Amino acid sequence: MKIFIILGTRPEIIKMSPVIRECIKKKLDFSILHTNQHYSENLDKVFFKELNLPEPKYNLNVGSGTHAEQTAKILVGVEKILLKEKPDIVLVEGDTNTVLASALAAAKLHIRVGHIEAGLRSYYREMPEEINRILTDHCSDLLFAPTKKAKDILLNEGIFNKNIFVTGNTVVDAVFENLKLAKKKSKILEKLNLSKRGYFLMTAHRAENVDNKDRLRGILKGAEMVSKKFSLPVIYPIHPRARKMLENFKIVIPKSINLIEPLGYLDFLKIENNAKLILTDSGGMQEESCIMKIPCVTLRDNTERPETIEVGSNLLSGTDPLRILECALKMLNKRKKWKNPFGSGKAAEKIIKIIQK
Ligand code: UD1
Ligand code: UDP
Repeated sequence: MKIFIILGTRPEIIKMSPVIRECIKKKLDFSILHTNQHYSENLDKVFFKELNLPEPKYNLNVGSGTHAEQTAKILVGVEKILLKEKPDIVLVEGDTNTVLASALAAAKLHIRVGHIEAGLRSYYREMPEEINRILTDHCSDLLFAPTKKAKDILLNEGIFNKNIFVTGNTVVDAVFENLKLAKKKSKILEKLNLSKRGYFLMTAHRAENVDNKDRLRGILKGAEMVSKKFSLPVIYPIHPRARKMLENFKIVIPKSINLIEPLGYLDFLKIENNAKLILTDSGGMQEESCIMKIPCVTLRDNTERPETIEVGSNLLSGTDPLRILECALKMLNKRKKWKNPFGSGKAAEKIIKIIQK
């Protein structure tokens, strides 16, 4: 059986890494195709290096562009390679333009598609990822849902039970595989002169937040208020999209917010694991904070990870500064007794077993 793994952005590289490792362990016939939707060294190569992943066999070099440009380039590029390689199954993970375009290209060639992290819904259609998720799920043959809740969503949308498998999320595998190493190897706290629980960690990169001046301002103001309340700094490893928009909007960054370049995975796990609280609009960080038992405030009005709210690891604040502060205080006053709902760290093993069957 010939497996084709397609990825293109930071979170896909991280969450696909346990699946790649499992393919190597089981000596399967697999290849990696990188669309290069992400191409900056610190969003791309650093993860291949740190996670010890093999070089992709193909690289489409699609880079940035409008949604149509990016999706179309991937669609055309992936089709050509699939026609040549004729794999038995294409695996994609998540909800980016890379995921939708690759799944669609494969489905139209009648190549089976396996969607890892299927069944997530924010029910907010203006989010580009929501469209990508729905369409990808509906052209996939094997849907690997991280939780029972995600499976129920798929069933309610008319997807057959026989095609859905609850496997947990490979993010748990990735955290378990790398946290020990991060604790041992990363010197990021010393480098930034930070102490355990002596800072807040923030990331914000979602289009609906950073491309909107009022929402971006609200996030920064809210983070500043949290920082002032506790006299602790906010560390913000900034995604290039957000940096570009800060410059476009000519927004002045509050002094208590320290912008740094995006970090590699080991440094990032370490800085997450030692933070007092995480402020984020990232999907992966809602999960990782839940897994590592670090309280999280999500700078959005909705989430496709409702399990984190249900177990009590996360609150939705939106981008109103006062509400961000209020949610931060609530989360900090809570006991961190929640259970991780995303599985036991064996998702990749389960996924590969199902594919082999
Ligand atoms: C993409 C995904 C998003 C995911 C995020 C992970 C879509 C629609 N969005 O968002 O779901 O959460 O990746 O980080 O697929 N840029 C660089 N270097 C890079 C890549 C991008 O500088 O390597 C800058 C460019 O200015 C580019 C902008 O970031 O225009 C946005 O990049 P893009 O790939 O369109 O989307 P992301 O915001 O990265
Ligand atoms: N991450 C990282 N370095 C950073 C910021 C994030 O390694 O500077 C990791 C983080 O641990 C998580 C993933 O990137 O696994 C999340 O990616 P992102 O927030 O870009 O995308 P999303 O999860 O929102 O799709």
